[in-house]
Amino acid sequence: MSEASNPKERKTEDGSADGEAASTPLVRAPLRGEVSRRGFFSVLGAGWAVFTAASAGLLGAMGRFMFPNVLYEPPQQFKAGFPEEFAVGEVDLRFKAAYGVWIVRESDGFYALSTTCTHLGCTPNWLSADQKFKCPCHGSGFERSGVNIEGPAPRPLERYRIALASDGQIEIDKNTKFQEEKGQWSMDGAFLYYS
Ligand code: FES
Repeated sequence: MSEASNPKERKTEDGSADGEAASTPLVRAPLRGEVSRRGFFSVLGAGWAVFTAASAGLLGAMGRFMFPNVLYEPPQQFKAGFPEEFAVGEVDLRFKAAYGVWIVRESDGFYALSTTCTHLGCTPNWLSADQKFKCPCHGSGFERSGVNIEGPAPRPLERYRIALASDGQIEIDKNTKFQEEKGQWSMDGAFLYYS
């Protein structure tokens, strides 16, 4: 077959193939042991991705070490308002959820009871009709004073320090506890005289 009958086989002046073959740039296949440019960059990209992920993991671990989980507890000291805001003979429930404290107003003063059951630590409820605290877990009961009267609770509820602040408000300090079975309810701070 002649050159004229098959244009694809025609040669140009510089000797390369004419037509379709001539318009396609020649790309040399990588030799054995050579890495193509595309392959090189994909390997480089994968390497960076692994490096970035490892660095991020390391930074995260360092962050957790430097800023450990912190458990935020309610303040141990708080002001509860002025004495006139409390009704005589009432158990004030306003500070139970936020501070774990009941403030009891008697005719001659105040005391602050812990809302933690002395059996296994559940939170009793104040039953106004029965004038007692009743624990929902195992049935312990406590008088309004905090003395245990029924169920497995081995001792009375604890009281917290209570005093008048300089601005005239009632101030509770949970850092100081008073336990009846240790004779501490008669100590300064266990009862705030006010009439
Ligand atoms: S925890 Fe209150 S009775 Fe058991």
